Amino acid sequence: MPWTRQHLLTLEELSLAEINQIHATAAAFKRTLTRSVKKVPALRGKTIVNLFLEPSTRTRMAFDMAAKRLSADVISLDGSSSSTTKGETLRDTAQNIQALQADMIVLRHSAAGAPLYLSRILHIPVINAGDGAHEHPTQGLLDTFTMKEHLGKLKGRKVVILGDILFSRVARSNIHALTKMGAAVTLVGPSTLVPHWFTDLGVQVSHDLKSALADAEVVMLLRIQHERQASGHFPSLGEYTGMFGLNKTRASWLNPKAIIMHPGPINRGVEIDSELADGERSVILEQVTNGIAIRMAVLYLCSGGQPENVYSGSDPN
Ligand code: CP
Repeated sequence: MPWTRQHLLTLEELSLAEINQIHATAAAFKRTLTRSVKKVPALRGKTIVNLFLEPSTRTRMAFDMAAKRLSADVISLDGSSSSTTKGETLRDTAQNIQALQADMIVLRHSAAGAPLYLSRILHIPVINAGDGAHEHPTQGLLDTFTMKEHLGKLKGRKVVILGDILFSRVARSNIHALTKMGAAVTLVGPSTLVPHWFTDLGVQVSHDLKSALADAEVVMLLRIQHERQASGHFPSLGEYTGMFGLNKTRASWLNPKAIIMHPGPINRGVEIDSELADGERSVILEQVTNGIAIRMAVLYLCSGGQPENVYSGSDPN
């Protein structure tokens, strides 16, 4: 099946076949990243603009790295150094980037729907690098890719997502991907952050951490999104940690083979203790590394590349 999408805006709109195509393309690119010469010429001559109007470490650097590995030219612009601080609108900023002959825009924005909006007014591809509390599609893709590396097929696998689900774009993207892949997803946290209506998305909701962890094969921790909460949804961070923080005792309730994930940034000692974040079950840094290959795949496919044409020849050195 040829890849036909110009934009990557959500995982909600992708089919299972499209998710699998991105994963397969990322797997091919990942093989190129272990060679002594890590660059492939796939996007030579293209210019990609990373427009990050909200803070980021992992996503921005992985998109930068991915574009460079594909031999594209990359320009990064953040909110504090752009003319948005002087009142320029997102529309004007994006149209100027297009007028400067960028071939693609990667956008992170605090407003849900900002990438969709740009996709309707620009003629170049728009990639969503996280929009408010809506979606973070490349994070969902790299998370499910990492799970597949450890568990194989995800059909029937039990995945617990624990923490601030209400304000989490990572949770939403993972829910859309995991349910399409046939995983059994349980959301866990205080009822204010994990309301029952999430069951409409085909997942289970639980406020009983011990029973949810007992049969989980993956537990994904999410941080409390202070920046998106208009009012307190629990009395204090200390009380959240006391009820739902993953510590050594609670980790002992897990299946011994279960893996521990976190999209970052981690609030150590709040949603997860350091000894678990850095422990042998943690795949947190593998997630970060896989973010490069996933973003290479997304940039390549949305630029018109086809999965079967991925350059992954033998190491010339
Ligand atoms: N996971 C993630 O989106 O991290 P950053 O905010 O650092 O990009």
